[in-house]
Amino acid sequence: MLRSQIEELEREAHAAIEASRSSSELEQLRVAYLGRNGKLTQILRSLGQIPAEQRKDVGFEANRAKGRLEALFESTLAAMLEAERRQQRQRDRLDLTLPGRRPPRGAVHPLTRVHDEIVAIFGGLGFSVAEGPEIETDFYNFEALNIPKDHPARDMQDTFYLSEDTLLRTHTSPVQIRTMRAAGGRTPVKIIVPGRVFRRDVPDASHSPVFHQVEGLAVDRAITMGDLKGTLELFAREMFGPKSRIRFRPSFFPFTEPSAEVDVLCFMCGGAGCRACKDGWLEILGSGMVHPRVLRNGGYDPEEVTGWAFGMGIDRIAMLKYGVDDLRLFFENDLRFLRQFA
Ligand code: PHE
Repeated sequence: MLRSQIEELEREAHAAIEASRSSSELEQLRVAYLGRNGKLTQILRSLGQIPAEQRKDVGFEANRAKGRLEALFESTLAAMLEAERRQQRQRDRLDLTLPGRRPPRGAVHPLTRVHDEIVAIFGGLGFSVAEGPEIETDFYNFEALNIPKDHPARDMQDTFYLSEDTLLRTHTSPVQIRTMRAAGGRTPVKIIVPGRVFRRDVPDASHSPVFHQVEGLAVDRAITMGDLKGTLELFAREMFGPKSRIRFRPSFFPFTEPSAEVDVLCFMCGGAGCRACKDGWLEILGSGMVHPRVLRNGGYDPEEVTGWAFGMGIDRIAMLKYGVDDLRLFFENDLRFLRQFA
């Protein structure tokens, strides 16, 4: 009875081992037959309950069956582990002849490039970079810059107002006042102020509600319009090439007196006149001697010090420099456009 049970069990285990498909499955089988509560182990344990005269023979058979199964488990496991290791090696195989994957190479955005160039040029002349908030008060953006309450620049049409008194700065000029006040009357002040500015323009090829300016400000004892001119001439040569020339055209800004707009000789036609420039000159910035009232608002005595300032559009300079005819291209971030600057 027990003997046939052992035979049956061994056959069953044999078949299960043959059918097993992995070393872990095999281990489960081993536990099921030979483990502490395994089927064969249980039979061996029950030997005590059978008549003594049968016990020896049945015990002998049971132990032999156990020995055979252990051996079979062991050899099957060894073969299975070897096969699994082989499969793993196959999966992990490296093809050293595959070409590498090149990480895509980015390009500096043209506006950032022009920004960096401007900062470098003026940095070489001893100007440091100052910054100010994009959300400004009416005082810094207008009042302190001598732009009176009824000035058209304050028009709701042009300015993004956040409240009666706060707005998105329409130019970087408010940082003139902030810097002068922070300097507490000390001289010299030599700063440039790159930053975003905002105006209520409908976007088209030459207008955007957000664009970029760089303000320049120098305050010292006895500096003149000649310093301004020399500085900007040097800037133009660095920015647009050694042959570049500039001209000053009289203009008006409430915060400078006298004021001048500065044109650069058109580098497309060399000054002959073309579609880009019409009369051979391209306007690049506004400038002038800091108005005495503005100096006073900045905490300086206009009898003691003078100053000059300029403001240029980074976007406009990038358009001129790279021959870009639509401002919107700078803001759309179309890779086909940006890749050209790699
Ligand atoms: N803030 C002026 C503008 O946005 C530019 C400017 C700056 C002119 C400094 C003169 C001096 O148009």
